[in-house]
Amino acid sequence: MEAFNYRGGTLYAEDVALSDIAAEHGTPAYVYSRAAIEQAWRDFDHAFADLPHQVCYAVKANSSLAVLNLLARLGSGFDIVSGGELERVLRAGGDPSRIVFSGVAKTRREIADAINKGIGCFNVESLPELERIQYIASRLDARAPVSLRVNPDVDADTHPYISTGLKENKFGIPLDEAEALYRRRADFPALDFVGVDYHIGSQLTRLDPFIDALDRVLAMVDRLAEDGLRLRHLDIGGGLGVRYRDETPPAPDAYAAALLPRLRGRELDIYMEPGRAIVANAGVMLTRVEYLKATPEKHFALVDGAMNDLLRPALYGAWQAIDPVTPRDGAPTNWDVVGPVCETADFLGKDRSLTLEPGDLLAVRSAGAYGFVMASNYNTRPRPPELMVDGDQVHLIRRRETVDDLLTGERLLED
Ligand code: LLP
Repeated sequence: MEAFNYRGGTLYAEDVALSDIAAEHGTPAYVYSRAAIEQAWRDFDHAFADLPHQVCYAVKANSSLAVLNLLARLGSGFDIVSGGELERVLRAGGDPSRIVFSGVAKTRREIADAINKGIGCFNVESLPELERIQYIASRLDARAPVSLRVNPDVDADTHPYISTGLKENKFGIPLDEAEALYRRRADFPALDFVGVDYHIGSQLTRLDPFIDALDRVLAMVDRLAEDGLRLRHLDIGGGLGVRYRDETPPAPDAYAAALLPRLRGRELDIYMEPGRAIVANAGVMLTRVEYLKATPEKHFALVDGAMNDLLRPALYGAWQAIDPVTPRDGAPTNWDVVGPVCETADFLGKDRSLTLEPGDLLAVRSAGAYGFVMASNYNTRPRPPELMVDGDQVHLIRRRETVDDLLTGERLLED
C-alpha cells in the first residue's frame, strides 16, 4: 500500500499532512505509517500461509521499540544480530522463542544471555562459534537450538556491500563444510541441530538467486535426511528488494509462489527474515531547505538533514526519491540536495529536478529501513525524532535527542 499521498497539493502520511508534523516536531524527522508496516508484514504472512511458517522480522532494518511492538502484536518472530537487539525485542513484548540470532561474531555474553532468555535458535556462522555455543550451553546445563548459516555461493546481483552469499563474503559456512558439521552433531551434545538458514544479500530484485540458493540448500537437507538428521526448519533469510526508483522487485506473494512448490510436502517449517520489504516504504525523512546556493558548476539545496541522519546515499550511493511536501509552480532546477556535515559525501540526492525556495519542506522517501538505525551523532548532531502516524493520530515514538543526551557519559580528565 502507498501510505504517503498528495491531497490538495500537499503530501500526507495516512490522514496527517507532513507539513503539520514538521510544524509541531521540527526537522529533520522520521515519519512512519503504522498501516503500511502492518500491511507489509501481513503480505509476507499471507503469502506463506499454505505452509507452517514464521516471519522473523530483521530488527536491524528499523529497531524502534514501537515498530517492534506493533509487529510482536501481529505475532511476528524476530531476527536479531546483537544483545542490544535482543533486549529491544524483549522490551517490545516479543516472544523469545520466536527469535533467531544471526551474526558472525557473537560474544560469550551475548550467547549466554540468549540461552538464558530462551531464544528460538542461534544462526551459527562458523565452527569456532559452534564450539563456543556448545561450551557455554554445557556450562549452563542447557541444550541450545542451532541452525547453521550456510553460504550457498550464489550471486545475488545487488550492491557489493550488501551481497552476502558468495564464497568470498565473510558470512556463513560453505555448504560442504556445513554438511560435514551436521554429520558430526554427536560431538556437540549440548546443541540441538534444529534448522538450516541462509541469507544471500539485500535489495534483491530478481527471483532466480533466491531459487538457486533454495535448491542448493534443499539438496543438502535431503542428503542429511538420508543420514537420519531431520531438520525441523529452513530459514530462507531476508533480502527481498523494494522500489526506490524504478526497480520492479517481486511482491511477497510472487516470491512465495516461486519457492512454495519446492517446499510443499516437506516437514519443514519455513522461517524468513525480511527487513527492508516491511519498513522501507513505510517511512520518510522530512528535511527543510535552509539555503539555496549556486556555484558556477552546481546548484546546491542545503537542507537540515544530513548523512549522519540518513547514511545510505553517502555510504552506497543509494538513490532515494526526494519529493517536495508542498510542490510549487515554476520552472525546476537541478539541485544537489546536501546537508550541513563537513564531508563531500554528505548528500541526500544529486541532480534532482525541483522547484525550491528556502524554507521548503522535502520528504526523502523509502527511509523506513536502514534510516534512523544507521544514524550517528557525527558533527555532534542530535539524532532526529521518530513519529508514527496511525490514521489521523501522530505518536512521538522517539523524541529528538538533545546535545545534553550526547554529552552524558563523557568526562574531563581530573588533572
Ligand atoms: N537476515 C540477515 C542475516 C541479514 O544480514 C539481513 C540484512 C536481513 C536478514 C534483512 O535483509 P533485508 O530483508 O532487509 O534485505 N544497510 C544496508 C542493508 C544491509 C543489510 C544487512 N543484512 C542498506 O541500507 O541497504
